[in-house]
Parts: sequence; structure tokens; C-alpha cells
Amino acid sequence: MSTSRFAEYLCPDKLAELADIAKRLTTPGKGILAADESVSTCGKRLQDINVENTEDNRRKYRELLFSTDDSLSQNISGVILFDETTKQKDKNGTPFLQILEQKGIIPGIKVDKGVVPLAGTINECTTTGLDGLKERCDEYKRMGCHFAKWRCVLKITQYTPSYLAMLENANVLARYASICQQAGLVPIVEPEVLPDGTHDLGMSQRVTEEVLAFVYKALADHHVYLEGTLLKPNMVTAGQGYTGAKPSPDQVATATVQALNRRVPPAVAGVVFLSGGQGEESATVHLNAINKCPLRRPWALTFSYGRALQASVLLAWGGKDESIKAAQEQLLKRAKANGLASVGEYTGGMAGVAGETSLFVANHAY
Ligand code: 13P
Repeated sequence: MSTSRFAEYLCPDKLAELADIAKRLTTPGKGILAADESVSTCGKRLQDINVENTEDNRRKYRELLFSTDDSLSQNISGVILFDETTKQKDKNGTPFLQILEQKGIIPGIKVDKGVVPLAGTINECTTTGLDGLKERCDEYKRMGCHFAKWRCVLKITQYTPSYLAMLENANVLARYASICQQAGLVPIVEPEVLPDGTHDLGMSQRVTEEVLAFVYKALADHHVYLEGTLLKPNMVTAGQGYTGAKPSPDQVATATVQALNRRVPPAVAGVVFLSGGQGEESATVHLNAINKCPLRRPWALTFSYGRALQASVLLAWGGKDESIKAAQEQLLKRAKANGLASVGEYTGGMAGVAGETSLFVANHAY
């Protein structure tokens, strides 16, 4: 029986392992490729380029991503996979997990089961997937995954996010994080404040700060080891429907870093932003401005982009075998640009074929 009211549930070796994984994921100049779209979300991306949403087409697309030249690992430290992808192989029969490992890219896994309505709120939601999570995490670790992702969603309206939504989503993120750490997976904690709405930058900052306060209280309550976690937040931007003057990259950067400074403990290993419907070039320019911001920045600040790393790739590919190389070049280019932005060295001129096309999807589901 424990002699203290603090029951230590992670041994020193496990703590060191978690901190090491988190550190490798946030190596300077590198970030994460989020390729964990569910079957239906991947289907929407494929539909946009007139490719049918079959298991083999999803497999082909992921093969295109993972068989990109080894130099991809210069800017990509990890890839987040969807369950289906962890079991798939390339055309020669090599498992995707093995291909990534051989490139020195750490495989990760999305473990949440999606958002569901949160009763007693005005159209707010929580995220499901805790049932059987420990067993699933143990299995993913055995297969070679070393980190995980769980996305919660908060919405800005006149009446939201509610106290209940912030409390519930923070708690479910903390339960998930604690379970992941027991299995040796670094949890990426993702409380996404959606860009939907007409709110200004100041409102986005206040809500982001409030949501993060709930998250770090819950992580503390659940004794989560912060050095072995990553935060995946939204950048602080004005709402998609805001009609005033568009905030400059420096304004976005200041609001974002200020919010993080006020609410994220320095022990957290790193912050890996989602792109949240920003155009590819904006997501890069904003990340660069964040890394040049004169405010204190005690954590690595890098990317874990889905849409902003894949829009040009999908467009260049168009489902054609003869375009695979061109698509992979787009991925290398986006990874390189964001890798530079993650250390504040992006000087522009590296836009992909998708350019600044809006990647906003209302009420985005993953
Ligand atoms: P976007 O970069 O497309 O916002 O998505 C990243 C992600 O993994 C959301 O969970």
C-alpha cells in the first residue's frame, strides 16, 4: 500500500522514455505530419480530387506520403496515423510502420473515436474513446507507435464555450493523457477552439486562455507528467467570419504566445499547432512569426498540420500514378517551409501549388 496520498503510477524509466519521445518529436526544425484523417474525412479529401474513397485508394495515398524521399525526415519528426493505416503495407508488402521507422520518423496514432453531442449545452460536444483505451494503447505501443493524439473541440459563440464543455473536455483529455502515459505513449493533448464565428482576435485569445486553464488544471489533477506531453492548440486568430481588418502575422503571433505564456506550464515539452483551416502559406507565415515573437517562449513551438501539409500534395497527385513524384515534391517543400518556420527562419517564396487557397471547413470533424 502506498504510504503517501500521491500514488506514483509511472516508474522513473517510463518518465525518462516519455520525455525522450516528446523531445525527439520537437527536435528544432522538425514538426509532425497529421495523416490521421478518419475514413470519412479522408474520403472528403479524395472526393475533392475525384478519387473514389476505397480502402485501396486510401492506402495508395498514404503510401505516396510515407514513401517520399528519406530527406522528409529532415523536417518531419513524426506522423499521426489512423487505425486502418497502422495495418496497411506498401505495394511491396512492407508495413507502413516499418517504412516510417526506417526513415527515422516516429509513428503516432489517433486514439479518440470522434466528437459526440454534449447534452445540456447549446450544440457543444465532447470526445469519445475512453472505453478499452488502455488495451488499445498497449497494442499500438507493441506495434511500434510512440505517441498518440486525442482531439477535443470547443466553439466560440455568444454563449459558448460553456463551463460544462470546458470542464468535460479538459477532464476527458486528462484521462486520455494519463492512460497513454501508462502505456508509454506521449499524449498530444488537443483542445481545439474552432475558427468558426465572427469573433475578433481578442475574443479568440480570451477563450483560448480559458480553455487552456481548464486543461492544465485537469492534467494536474490527474497527475499527468507534463514533460512527457505535447500540446496541440489552435493559433489565436480572428474568427473565419470576422469582418474587421485581418490581424497581421505579428498580431496573431503575439496573441498566441501571450495566451500560451499565461496558461501553459514551462514543463510541457512542446507545442505543436494544428493548422485549423488556414491556407498553407498563412499557416507557415504565422508559425514563423510565432517563433520570432519577442515574448518568452520556454517550449518548442512547431507544427502538427493536417490540411496545411497536404492540400498541395493532394492537388498535385490528383489520383494519377504519373504524378506521385510531383506530389511528393510538394510534401517535401511544405515540410521544409514549416521546418524553417519552426525556428523562425522562413523568408517566404516557398508556397505549394495550393498557395493560399482557404482550407476552412465549417464545424470541422476529423
Ligand atoms: P489541421 O492541421 O487540418 O487543422 O488538422 C490537424 C489535426 O490533426 C486536427 O486534429
